[in-house]
Amino acid sequence: MESVRSQFPALTRIHQGHPVAYFDGPGGTQVPMAVVDAIGDYLLHHNANTHWVYPSSQETDALLHDARQVFAAFFNAPDPAWVSFGQNMTTITFHLARALARQWGAGDELIVTELDHHGNVDPWRHAGEDAGLTVRTVPLAADGVSLDMDALASMLSPRTRLLAVGAASNAIGTITDVAAATRLAKAAGALVFVDAVHYAPHALVDVQALGCDMLACSSYKFYGPHQGILCARPDLIASLRLPKLRPAPSAPPDSLETGTQSHEGIVGAAAAVRFLASVAGPISDAPQALRAALVESYTRLHDDAAMLTRSLWEGLGTVTGVTRYGRPPGQPRTPTVSFVVAGHTSHAVAARLVDHGLFVSSGDFYAQTLVERLGHGQDGLIRIGCACYTTSDEIDRLIAAVDSL
Ligand SMILES: Cc1ncc(COP(=O)(O)O)c(C=O)c1O
Repeated sequence: MESVRSQFPALTRIHQGHPVAYFDGPGGTQVPMAVVDAIGDYLLHHNANTHWVYPSSQETDALLHDARQVFAAFFNAPDPAWVSFGQNMTTITFHLARALARQWGAGDELIVTELDHHGNVDPWRHAGEDAGLTVRTVPLAADGVSLDMDALASMLSPRTRLLAVGAASNAIGTITDVAAATRLAKAAGALVFVDAVHYAPHALVDVQALGCDMLACSSYKFYGPHQGILCARPDLIASLRLPKLRPAPSAPPDSLETGTQSHEGIVGAAAAVRFLASVAGPISDAPQALRAALVESYTRLHDDAAMLTRSLWEGLGTVTGVTRYGRPPGQPRTPTVSFVVAGHTSHAVAARLVDHGLFVSSGDFYAQTLVERLGHGQDGLIRIGCACYTTSDEIDRLIAAVDSL
């Protein structure tokens, strides 16, 4: 923990005499020096546009090629051609949805869910409207914090073109059994798009095990810069009529990348994956070795997170007036716990916690439908997210501060 924390300059920040504890990872994590160094090195020494003959342009090509290989290992994709980059998950999803909708028509159906961030709902809803599709929504299960998989099964039909499902809820941490949802969707002949933005920082993605066609995430949620990444079947992308500029590449993965990319963002995102892989020890660059190191790091991160989630959940449970949302510890969930405090708005609680050096987020986190279903559409929830740098001491400080309210 000491060596991980020492890599994050942001953790030395003091606010009103308190060391800052960053509990806002689900909104965006802090960034280690190695990532900032990689971005700085790119901009200072290799900055150029792609595909020209001079050295810095060729270095840029090599760095982008490297980043695709790093992310192929990160996703366990069969090939780097599965990996493309974009501004963020939302922009990538709008672009894909628009392209997919060009081959759908009246009578076709899409399925979204009540548990998802709207980044995985509204791009599909808009695309569905444009193409005259029916959009169905999988409701929450009786527990109020997970998806009703029976309802999903009953909604799927030969008319279903796509299931858009989140791997983990950014508002309450529920991990959905995406492999099971994918099996159901595939049996009906539908495509599957997975939002892994909140999942990827906490559980190692394996697109082959999940069986999905497309999966998107964002590196600013796992210690990287603001950069979106897509992992998608190249044959599917090649079959789309993508809106694109005539001189731009027409084969995947480049065909998905509109305009000039954020090269520094892509280089930084690859550095974030290497940082994650290094949590369990020194790493080598070979893709096979990188995947093995990631497996080890994520096992360690998962064990630490499970311990923190338990003390956070149980500690908040001891505070009068606190209502927690989400699955209890020990069930498939991320270390993201949300709650409300009776008699206080969530924004007011978040503002009071700042006085203790505790940076937490509040609101609906764009998981608006879910937060409405939980009965907090007006005030929202207070969200506590644990990251690789979160300590038990910080959890204790948080619980004591909530108690003092
Ligand atoms: C689960 C989830 N999906 C999608 C998004 C949107 O991601 P981006 O900001 O990269 O568009 C977020 C952002 O918070 C998220 O948490």
